[in-house]
Amino acid sequence: MTTAPEATTYRLIDGKQTAEAIKEEIAAEVQALKAAGHKVPHLAAVLVGHDGGSETYVRNKVLACERVGFESTLIRYEDDITEAELLARVEALNQDTRIDGFIVQLPLPRHISAEKVIEAIRPEKDVDGFHPMNIGRMVAGLPALLPATPSGIVELLRRYELPTDGKHCVIIGRSNIVGTPVSILLAKNLDPGNCTVTLCHSHTQNLAEISRTADILVAALGRPEFVRADMVKPGAVVIDVGTTRVEDATKKSGYALKGDVCFEEVAPLTSYITPVPGGVGPMTIAMLLQNTLKAAKGEVYAR
Ligand code: GUN
Repeated sequence: MTTAPEATTYRLIDGKQTAEAIKEEIAAEVQALKAAGHKVPHLAAVLVGHDGGSETYVRNKVLACERVGFESTLIRYEDDITEAELLARVEALNQDTRIDGFIVQLPLPRHISAEKVIEAIRPEKDVDGFHPMNIGRMVAGLPALLPATPSGIVELLRRYELPTDGKHCVIIGRSNIVGTPVSILLAKNLDPGNCTVTLCHSHTQNLAEISRTADILVAALGRPEFVRADMVKPGAVVIDVGTTRVEDATKKSGYALKGDVCFEEVAPLTSYITPVPGGVGPMTIAMLLQNTLKAAKGEVYAR
């Protein structure tokens, strides 16, 4: 006889509210910096082309800067900008002492190498934490600018006081931006941390069998509603990193944001779950602001 998984009363992990609290803390620090006669942190964002998702992300990043009292600069290019032109702009931002940190929004057009662009960013200004120097320092456990989405996930686990020590964390998706760095951070001898981590990807066999053993399940593969009830252990903590736009005529915008988790089916099984939108997304922006503050204070590689 098979028994249906037990339903529990779940709690939402409210990333929007948590990000607001972090932004308030940052705004207070900016006021203190100003009062002490320092300049306010300045974030620049480079946006190439007109991808709808990227436009929204970058607009939200700029708005968040205003909210905490940072200066911000948005630099826009059409998608026919050459790689050499973009690399020259990156170098100008590296040299510009008014700018504390900057990001180049991904994805970039196919004729531009994202790797080359990321490697051209001065690590001290790489507030996305994508430069190999920052990734290497993160792996080695040295002070670094950490990638925003992974540190947003860790921060949610911390602020909700969800136990991680000795827990099995299964991550679905091995991207450089989310899956791989989350696997590194949660395996570290830190709090939150000390997880036993399994990193799953498109070549993983018996995925549902593995994900059903997760105490903490992180879905970061970018396929809407991929995680279904049969992939989740009752009582698990589920972190949904997906934000795919799917057509929805009932919405004014014409689309809805869908996570990688089928929320209606999975939420009742979980102890805690992040919604989409309002879960991990706002945390990414809050952590980007935190990185910019660190960069502005020259604290990045401080011990
Ligand atoms: N594209 C999707 N997520 C991100 C991010 O965190 N930073 C940048 N620069 N591009 C992205």
